[in-house]
Amino acid sequence: MPVKLRALHADITTLVVDAIVNAANATLLGGGGVDGAIHRAAGPGLLDECRRLGGCRTGEAKLTSGHRLPARYVIHTVGPVWRGGGSGEAALLSACYQNALRLAADQNLTTIAFPSISTGVYGYPFAEAARIAVRSVHAALNTWPAFEEVIFCCFAESDRLVYQRLLNENGDRGHAAAIGERNRCAAAHLNGKGDVNRTAAGPCADVLVPKTPGNTTKTRPEVSRLLSPHDGRPSPADGV
Ligand code: AR6
Repeated sequence: MPVKLRALHADITTLVVDAIVNAANATLLGGGGVDGAIHRAAGPGLLDECRRLGGCRTGEAKLTSGHRLPARYVIHTVGPVWRGGGSGEAALLSACYQNALRLAADQNLTTIAFPSISTGVYGYPFAEAARIAVRSVHAALNTWPAFEEVIFCCFAESDRLVYQRLLNENGDRGHAAAIGERNRCAAAHLNGKGDVNRTAAGPCADVLVPKTPGNTTKTRPEVSRLLSPHDGRPSPADGV
């Protein structure tokens, strides 16, 4: 079965997938942005587990349980801080995607959702980061072809459109039409009963696959308001 690459406008903490990726900092002890949102949604057990990981270097990735999240696992990676593009940022950002997929493949995970790593407080220009993300995932899937779905989860519809254009250029047109109207919703996920839970995130335009059997009971009954992004300031852990 070909891998589905999808651009989705949603809060990543609501997605029912095998793993969501966290754009963390080197301490892995939480922060703002998507990192803060993931820790809030996962609960204190995630921080306890992260404390035992000994941090994470830029470009590398580490795996934890999803705790209270609907996702089974969280893969924490640390993107590069944008310093103008001449400090190896592109290679480091690419390594984040490739190492996250490597970890997921090691665990036999088949559905994974990425936020747009480094494009918030770390300042990476969005369009360039998206291009690297799509290219890196394509390259990694040649090595690990067992994935069923890779989602580029965007917090803004305008960001999703950037990814969608890149996916269209690459011929990854999604499979909403093939699956039909049954599950059609951009910011929705299926719960264990096959119902569609909608978030406040945006218009319906796409589909998420349900979790694999055995995962389907771990779902969120409702989805809270979108979590606010970070305050725009790097933390001391960011080295900026
Ligand atoms: N769901 C999906 N995407 C989100 C969400 C969400 N709930 N929240 C934010 N985004 P950022 P970085 C998007 O700043 O640039 C933290 O403090 C957001 O719109 O979260 O890698 C860490 O602890 C943006 O496109 O991550 C680090 O210190 C993208 O996620 C630092 O920020 C990444 O923005 C990491 O900075």
